[in-house]
This record gives sequence, C-alpha cells and structure tokens, in this order.
Amino acid sequence: MDDSRETLGPRAFVTGYPAKHSRSPLIHGHWLKTLGLQGSYQAHEVKPEDFPAFMRALKNGESGFAGGNVTIPHKEMVFKLADEPDELSEELGASNTLWIEDGRLKATNTDGRGFTANLDERHSGWDKATSAVILGAGGASRAVIQAVRDRGFSEIHVVNRTVDRAAELADRFGPKVYAHPIAALGEVMKGAGLFINTTSLGMDGESAPQIDFSPLLSGAVVTDIVYVPLKTPFLKQAEEQGFAIVDGLGMLLHQAVPGFEKWFGQRPIVTEELRSLIIADMERH
Ligand code: ATR
Repeated sequence: MDDSRETLGPRAFVTGYPAKHSRSPLIHGHWLKTLGLQGSYQAHEVKPEDFPAFMRALKNGESGFAGGNVTIPHKEMVFKLADEPDELSEELGASNTLWIEDGRLKATNTDGRGFTANLDERHSGWDKATSAVILGAGGASRAVIQAVRDRGFSEIHVVNRTVDRAAELADRFGPKVYAHPIAALGEVMKGAGLFINTTSLGMDGESAPQIDFSPLLSGAVVTDIVYVPLKTPFLKQAEEQGFAIVDGLGMLLHQAVPGFEKWFGQRPIVTEELRSLIIADMERH
C-alpha cells in the first residue's frame, strides 16, 4: 500500500541515482515508528539532468519536503545549489543532508560525524592516538580525513594507489595531512593507532590484498567504511593479527541522526535493534 500521500507530518527523502537500494528509508522509518512520530521518509530517484529542477522545487516549497539526504552522484551539486552550506560542507565541497530553515535551504555533511560516532560507540578511546593511516583518496575518504583531523590527530597519512589524488587531499586538509604511495604503507603504519580503509577494496566479497598490520601500535584500531560484508577482508586480517576492529555499519546509522533531528524534531538513538534490522536486510539482498 502506498500511503505516502496520506502521511501526516514532515516529509523527507533520500535522493541519488540510483536511490532505490538505499537503506536510509529503513533507518528513518524505524525511528519514526519507535518514537511514535508522524512523518515519512522515502527514496526519491532523480537523474542528474533533473537535479536542478528538483532543488528549485525543494527551495520554493513546491515539493513539500522538509529536507532530505543526498547520495551519489548529487553530493557535489547539492553543495553548489544549497542556499547555506555549512563550514564542513564548504571544505569537503559536498553535502549529504539538507533542510529548510527560515525559508533557506541549508546543507551539511554528516559522514564525518557518523564516522566518529561509530568509533566512539564501539571503541571509545580510539582518539587517544596521534597518528592515523587512511587508505584511499576518493570521495569517501574526504569526510574521514576531516573528522580525524578535527578530533585532534596530529599526523594523518593518506595512502593511495594514485598518489596525486592523495596529494590533492593533503593540500585541501592542511599541514597535518601527508600523501603517500601504496609502497609507503608499512613505513607510515609505524606508530599509528588508527587504520581506516576508505577504498572499495574488499567490497561485496571481492578479494583484497594482504596487509601486514604489525607496524601499528599494539592496541591500534582498524576500521573500514565498507560494511558489505560486515567483516571485510581487511577487518578479518587485522583481527587475525590481534588488532581491535570496528565495522563500518555504524557510520551509516550515525550519519543519519542529525538529519532526522532536523526534519522530525527529535534526536534518534542508534540501537542494537536498528543495527540488527539493517543486518537482516543485508542478508536478504
Ligand atoms: P569513493 O567516492 O567511493 O571513495 P572513488 O572516488 O572511486 O570512490 O575512490 C575509490 C578509492 O578506492 C580510491 O582511493 C581508489 O584509488 P585510486 O585513487 O588510485 O583510483 C581506491 N581503489 C579502488 N580500486 C583499487 C584497487 N584495485 N587498488 C587500489 N586502490 C583502489
């Protein structure tokens, strides 16, 4: 039954192209239900060529949405078209969360907050180290670099197959960020207390190269922003080598919190029940 039109309360969306595989409707739907709030949250697929019109209708209120989430490939465009992107978005050049406030379309990027909240929840004390290694220099690594820097790490080593992309990010994110080729991985891991994979290596059961994590500090944490599978090849290797691991699912769950609060007025909580709901959905698809 399509009850979207009869739904009372604020309406929010996730838009992307494609958008139908997004798990965000499941997350926000769970919170609306458990908090007993009126409102709706639905996937809304918009082609890149139709995106400016979608944004116009959002801004002038025609679409009736209170705001929404934005995913690939619209994150950069939404940043450019929003009335007021915040400082986090400005530095990243991309936004993933939108809301109307005082008649203006505001935008932020919650990926970094999702990343740190996941680690805070699952391995508190992760931020005591001073040096971090980030594998990958694509779109997904930017919010992670920003978050780790803003948490106070003083050395952030970005290691990437294409070293020029890592160098671009080192320029963008300031003097604490260093760029390296893959060959330097073992060297830069020495003394690091945090290792983050932001590449697609190991996603969806694909194989991933072997990494020797032993140069990391004992007690270091290894995390992956890939969450399908939940225990990625890198996480499996790190666990076998005696390191603490944190999977990436919590980043997805926690990045959703600020948007929900903006649109529906209550701050939701990430629970084990929600995590299990998403894991069950991942097992079905
Ligand atoms: P996203 O926006 O999701 O981060 P992306 O911009 O395509 O996606 O970046 C993917 C990241 O995974 C990049 O760091 C990429 O390395 P390059 O910049 O050298 O392309 C990395 N990556 C993907 N496949 C890889 C592989 N087979 N070996 C090493 N790195 C790989």
